[in-house]
Amino acid sequence: MKAAMLTKSTFAGARLAIKAASRRSASMRIGARAEVGLFYSTSTGNTEAAADWISQKFEGDISDPTDIGEIDVDDLTEYSSLIVGAPTWNTGADEGRSGTAWDEVLDEIKDLDLSGKKVAVFGCGDSSSYGDYFCDAIEEVYSAMKSAGATMVGSVATDGYDFSESKSVIDGKFCGLPLDEDNESDMTEDRIAAWCAQISGEGLA
Ligand SMILES: Cc1cc2nc3c(=O)[nH]c(=O)nc-3n(C[C@H](O)[C@H](O)[C@H](O)COP(=O)(O)O)c2cc1C
Repeated sequence: MKAAMLTKSTFAGARLAIKAASRRSASMRIGARAEVGLFYSTSTGNTEAAADWISQKFEGDISDPTDIGEIDVDDLTEYSSLIVGAPTWNTGADEGRSGTAWDEVLDEIKDLDLSGKKVAVFGCGDSSSYGDYFCDAIEEVYSAMKSAGATMVGSVATDGYDFSESKSVIDGKFCGLPLDEDNESDMTEDRIAAWCAQISGEGLA
C-alpha cells in the first residue's frame, strides 16, 4: 500500500517537474524569439488584407498576421520588434477610434515595457468620406506603444494623400502608414512595399 502511494506520488512529482521544465523551455524559446510580430484588427477585412501584404513584402523573419484580440497583450514583449495595424471607425469620438479590439487593449499596452523594441504602425481609413478624421486610430496605437517605451519608426509624408485632417499627423507627418482601400486601393501595394523597405532601413528587424 505504502509502496503504491510512494510510486503514485513519485509519478505525480515527476509529472509536475516535466510540466515546469516544459513551461521553462517554452518561455525561453519565446523570449529568445528573433522575429518581428505582426498584429492587426479589422471590422470589414481591409486591415487584415493589408497585414497579409506586409507579411509578404517585409524582408525578414515576421510572424503570421494575428488579430490583436486573439492574444494576451503581454505576448507583445516577446518579439524583437512589432508592426501593428488598426482601422479607424467611431467617427467623432474623442478616443477609441479603432472600434475594434485595439480599443480594449491600449491601456494595458501603455503599461508594458517595450523599451529597446522598434514599432511601426499602419492603418486603414477613408480619406474621402471621412477626410476630417483620416486614419485617426493610427495615432492612438502609436501613442500607446510610445508610452510603453518603444522606439517608433515608419512615419510617412502627407504628400500624395487627399484629406483634410487627421490626428495621426504629428509634426507634419503621419506617425504611421495610412492606407485607403475605399478610394486608393490601387496604391496600397506600392505604399506597403515602400514602407516595408523604409522601416527595415530604420532598423526594424
Ligand atoms: C461608419 C463608418 C465610419 C468610419 N469612420 C472613419 C473615420 O472616422 N476615419 C477614417 O479614416 N475612416 C473611417 N471609415 C472608413 C474605414 O476605416 C475604412 O473602410 C477601413 O478600410 C476599414 O478597415 P477594416 O475593413 O479593416 O475595418 C469609416 C467607415 C464607416 C462605414
